[in-house]
This record gives sequence, C-alpha cells and structure tokens, in this order.
Amino acid sequence: MTEPPREPAPPASAPASGRFLLVACQPGSEDAVFLSQEHFLPDATRAAWRRGVVTFRLPFGTDFPADGLPFARTVVDSLGQVTGNTPAELAAAAVDRVAAAVTCVHVWQRLPVQRREPQTSDASEALPSAAEVHQAIVERLDLDNTPTGSESVAGRVANDGEKVLDLVIDSPGRAWLGWHVARTPASRWPGGIYPNTLPEDAVSRAWLKLDEALAAFEVPIRSGQRAVELGASPGGASQRLLSLGLHVVGIDPAEIDPRVADHPRFEHWKMRARDVRLRQLRDFEWLVTDMNIDPASTMDALERVATAGGRTLKGIIATLKLPQWKRAADLPGWLGRFETWGFRPHARQLSCGGREVCVVARRGS
Ligand SMILES: C[S@@+](CC[C@H](N)C(=O)[O-])C[C@H]1O[C@@H](n2cnc3c(N)ncnc32)[C@H](O)[C@@H]1O
Repeated sequence: MTEPPREPAPPASAPASGRFLLVACQPGSEDAVFLSQEHFLPDATRAAWRRGVVTFRLPFGTDFPADGLPFARTVVDSLGQVTGNTPAELAAAAVDRVAAAVTCVHVWQRLPVQRREPQTSDASEALPSAAEVHQAIVERLDLDNTPTGSESVAGRVANDGEKVLDLVIDSPGRAWLGWHVARTPASRWPGGIYPNTLPEDAVSRAWLKLDEALAAFEVPIRSGQRAVELGASPGGASQRLLSLGLHVVGIDPAEIDPRVADHPRFEHWKMRARDVRLRQLRDFEWLVTDMNIDPASTMDALERVATAGGRTLKGIIATLKLPQWKRAADLPGWLGRFETWGFRPHARQLSCGGREVCVVARRGS
C-alpha cells in the first residue's frame, strides 16, 4: 500500500492581500476538487489543503461562478484560521475577525467525528461540538439563538442573499473562518450538506440522493409526469419520484422492493438498459440513471435513450459512479456530450452520495 500524501501545513492567519477561496468537500475527494478546478476555475492557484478542505487563491477581479466547482460542497471566502480552547473562545476569535455584517452562522467539523483522522498528539482531545460553537457565535452576534444542529454540523438554512459566517472546525482548538452570500440552494445549507434525512420507510439511500439532486438543482418535476430510471433496484429513487406523483418505469435486471414494485404508478422492466427497445421510451419527461457500472458505459446508455427519447424528454438526472477520484478529469468531456444531445448540464458531487457525481441536464442550449 502506498502512503497517502502528507498534507501541507495550513496558513496560521488570513492572507494580507488577495482573495482566498475555502472549498469544503467530501473527505477523500480533494484530488477531484483539484482536477475540476484546473478545468472550471483555471485562474485559481492551489493554496493549503487538508482532508475535507481545500483553499485556492484567486486573482483580484476573478468572478467565482455559483456552481463553479462540481466537487465542492460549498465555497466561501476564507479569512484564515482562528484558535480557541473552548466554544466561547473560538466564537470570540471568529466574531472579532468578521468585518461584514452577517445574519446567519454555519459551523461544521472538517471531518465528522466518526470519520476523523487518527489523532497524532493527545488522542483524548475531542473536537468541539459544532452545535456548541454555533450557539456561542450566535449569542455573541445577538442573532436568533434557537439551538440547531448536531455534533458535526450546525446552523439554519440561510435565506437567499443572506450573508453567512462559516466556521470549519479543523482540530481541537483550531478552525477555519470564512463567509459567503447564500445564492444557490446548496450554499444555503450549513457546509453544503443536505439537511433532510432519510425517511424510515425509504427502501434505499438513493431516496435521499435523488431528493438532494432535486433540491440542489431546483429540478421542476411535476405530478403526473413520466420518468424512466435505468438501474432502479431496489427502488429508493423511484419511490421518491412516486411520492411526487410521477408515473415511473424502473429498468433493472435485479429485484425491486415490493413497496415500490406494487405501487399502481410503477412498472418494472426486468432487463438491462441496452435491451430496452427505444420505441418504448418515446413518451417520458425525465430520464434518471444510477447504474453501478463504469461512467463511460452509463454515458453510452444515456446517449442511446436521450437521443432517441423524443421531444417530450425535459431533462436527465444522472449519477456517474467514479471507480477512482481521478476519473473526475473526464467530467468536462461527459458534460460536453450532454450538450451535443441538446441538454444544458450542471454537475455536483452530492453530500449524500459516495464516490460519484450527479449531473442534471435540462433540454435547451
Ligand atoms: C446503486 S444501484 C441503484 C439504486 C437505485 N437507483 C435505487 O434507487 O435504489 C445500481 C443498480 O444498477 C443496476 N444495473 C447495473 N447495470 C445495469 C444495466 N446495464 N442496466 C440496468 N441496470 C443496471 C444494478 O442491477 C443495480 O441494481
């Protein structure tokens, strides 16, 4: 086994000049963030990084597009690091540094406690709880201090246009500070982490993934529309679509959970995607896919259906599984293919997803 690369030490304080972006990402996906930055934000240069957090320096005057980095959970303007041994000390240090008036506070642990790196120093030192630090900051700022959040992530969903103070708890006694203006759905969620939870009766986690995709991309799905899903077993995503009033065809050689299979608006075509006759796929508004195969094969399956699907097809919601994070380098090419089929693609690595990227593409140029 090869040793993981050593993380360079983070800067101790805010830069004297220039703009630094702090990007929160799924721990382990940093290479994907770097690869996509080379394509989507070529003017940026890499600064410090740690698992779950990457920073970039941007030249003055460079605009940062709202959905500019597909592997970022959230992107904020970095103000460097703050230190403090208690939630109250961290809160004091953070509030002292933030000049702009903020009305909302998001706090999250860089590595949620259960996935934390082995401690090299004092293993008994615990990370401060996000909820406690959040509480201390909102009290100092005299904001609504209704308790909200958990050990690992805290804060309310920001309103559109609201200025947010961001604090990423890095290690015991140290945190990264930043701020952003909430503009996109995901930028309103603390840490860009989807705040909904999986319902108890959901047949798989794909229920929540699809729910997050619909929210993050504001997909205009309507009751009564028809969807086809390639790779539907056991049925969580189809179950979410059914709950929204859609008619759903699930294509998968594997079994569908009876709670979905028996639904009056659901049909199971028990076959592989390539065995479906294209003329059977003419009347659908939405094409959904979540197949556990190489993303190049998923793209071929999508192309076959999307280019033959007829004019009723309004959009595609695709999960592209990445066998390794380095396949993120292929993303620009995949997005280009959606465009050649007549769809406008946007990509995001969902906070509920694993090593994969979600592409939502709506018809139109
Ligand atoms: C991650 S699971 C899908 C989860 C599902 N979307 C849900 O909501 O529960 C991947 C599925 O892709 C299916 N699959 C793999 N290759 C396929 C193919 N060529 N055609 C159709 N389904 C395929 C597998 O049988 C498996 O059930």
